[in-house]
Amino acid sequence: MITARTIQEARAAIRDARPATVGLVPTMGFVHEGHLSLIRVARQRGADFVVVSVFVNPRQFGPTEDFARYPRDEQRDRVLLEREGTDLLFLPSAEEVYAAGSATVVSVGGIAEPLEGVRRPGHFAGVATVVLKLFNIVQPDLAVFGRKDAQQCAVIDRMVRDLDVPVRLVFGETVREHDGLALSSRNSYLSAKERALAPTLHKALRAGEEAITHGVEQVEAVEKLMHRMAAGVDIDYLVVVDPATFLPPADFHRDLLLAGAVRFGKTRLIDNVLVPKAAISHAHV
Ligand code: PAJ
Repeated sequence: MITARTIQEARAAIRDARPATVGLVPTMGFVHEGHLSLIRVARQRGADFVVVSVFVNPRQFGPTEDFARYPRDEQRDRVLLEREGTDLLFLPSAEEVYAAGSATVVSVGGIAEPLEGVRRPGHFAGVATVVLKLFNIVQPDLAVFGRKDAQQCAVIDRMVRDLDVPVRLVFGETVREHDGLALSSRNSYLSAKERALAPTLHKALRAGEEAITHGVEQVEAVEKLMHRMAAGVDIDYLVVVDPATFLPPADFHRDLLLAGAVRFGKTRLIDNVLVPKAAISHAHV
């Protein structure tokens, strides 16, 4: 595994390897099995050279968010990524990514506005900007993102289409603990007590899914059920949305996304479950 800390080093390493198909997996590090699964997806989709970036992007954290305490462990990440067969680890500093005088950002509207968009102002602009920069630095043929961050996937998909970015996007399924909790670097913040409660988010989303597949067709009824399932937890949102817009669905004759965000102390966790149109029963209940 080659390590590059500058843009020039990263480009030189890729050029020297003369790969046929470059795959990029952008991360903020503190690597877990969810990240590693995306490397495998990149290989399955034909990448013969996989670049993993580890960069805790200051621009996507709000002033009251966890940028300073976000978990970082370069040695551990290096071991896990090398073991998974990563070809190039790109580990830039903030100064390398945002040179003095940097003044251009990617502005994303529409799909970036609801849910995470209203709760984390500037977050998706920060994500889109760094992801576009990584695309320009690495120039990958394909890039892999996790469905755990469903709205992030939609924002990047929108950006790639709107700005004609020549990259193939691939989305990987959410990797979970045995009790359903979606893997996240932020899970490391949870106390034992919070960790025991954390699967409630996924349980509530699953209950919503089950209601829909059994014929419940009202947004309010599904959302009420999910809130009931997560009683006692500090819920930010637990909603049914149209995955094409992240707004309430016009009806239940389409794919639906159950999306949630909850807080355990200072830790904010998100998760989602997609209910495909084909799984929705319209039997009246
Ligand atoms: P990070 O949270 O480190 O996640 C990196 C990638 O791993 C993202 O595509 C995310 O959706 C995916 N991922 C996280 N948890 C996952 C899980 N349990 N199963 C499958 N995939 C999972 O998302 C970011 O970093 C940043 O916003 C980034 C895109 C790197 C831009 O800074």
